[in-house]
Amino acid sequence: MKIELANSYGFCFGVKRAIKIAENAKDAATIGPLIHNNEEINRLKINFNVKTLEGISEITEEKKAIIRTHGITKNDLSKLKNSDIKIIDATCPFVTKPQQICEKMSKEGYDIVIFGDENHPEVKGVKSYADGKVYVVLDESELDNIKLSQKVAVVSQTTRKVEKFMQIVNYLMLKTKEVRVFNTICNATFENQEAVKELAERADIMIIIGGKNSSNTKQLYLISKNFCNDSYLIENESELNEEWFRNKNHCGVSAGASTPDWIIQNVVKKIEDFKN
Ligand code: F3S
Repeated sequence: MKIELANSYGFCFGVKRAIKIAENAKDAATIGPLIHNNEEINRLKINFNVKTLEGISEITEEKKAIIRTHGITKNDLSKLKNSDIKIIDATCPFVTKPQQICEKMSKEGYDIVIFGDENHPEVKGVKSYADGKVYVVLDESELDNIKLSQKVAVVSQTTRKVEKFMQIVNYLMLKTKEVRVFNTICNATFENQEAVKELAERADIMIIIGGKNSSNTKQLYLISKNFCNDSYLIENESELNEEWFRNKNHCGVSAGASTPDWIIQNVVKKIEDFKN
């Protein structure tokens, strides 16, 4: 049986970078879980003594604080800067960008519109950089009753879909005189989705690896299932069942954006062992 990995799978650039930073930091604490994968968080804890705190209020004796890919609010950052703690910034550069845009454009007098989920830590962080008026919306209708200034700047949460972003931009163009559009969407998630689709169309069994509570892993599984009925979602190699592979010729493998490479390798190794 042929085993083929999707063209794009697993960690995105920002998460890979954050893990490297955490490994090098050692004896540090992350503000919020670094990624949505408990096994990886445990590995960082056991091998590199990197702890996870829920927020900056939990900091006690820690000497180094790692800011995770989603970033933190401007206020929390300045509290950290005013403390004795060493700050290690692992904010993804694709998240730093909308933070900077928000800060700059609101200083220039633009109202800010953020397309995203206002409860998401990334959006809370980006929003905190706006000095003036800022609106977070998931749909343009949420702006119906709002009197916007004649100058509006619009950014997106990194993981949103571009089609919806364009609808919001179109709406704004009809509502105000000047709209500055910053496409801050990151393609990493969609690259994994495109790749799983392409592979699932050709494979006769698909194994998707990732946390069962990870929404992007579930999304990959659903796309895969759409094109290959024998698709399975597993967290690690212990869930593999040799029966699934009977009479199969081509096994496709993909993994969610928070699945570490070592888990993927363990799964591939075990599937290879089934062949023998
Ligand atoms: Fe950064 Fe995009 Fe990943 S914003 S953390 S590279 S999904």
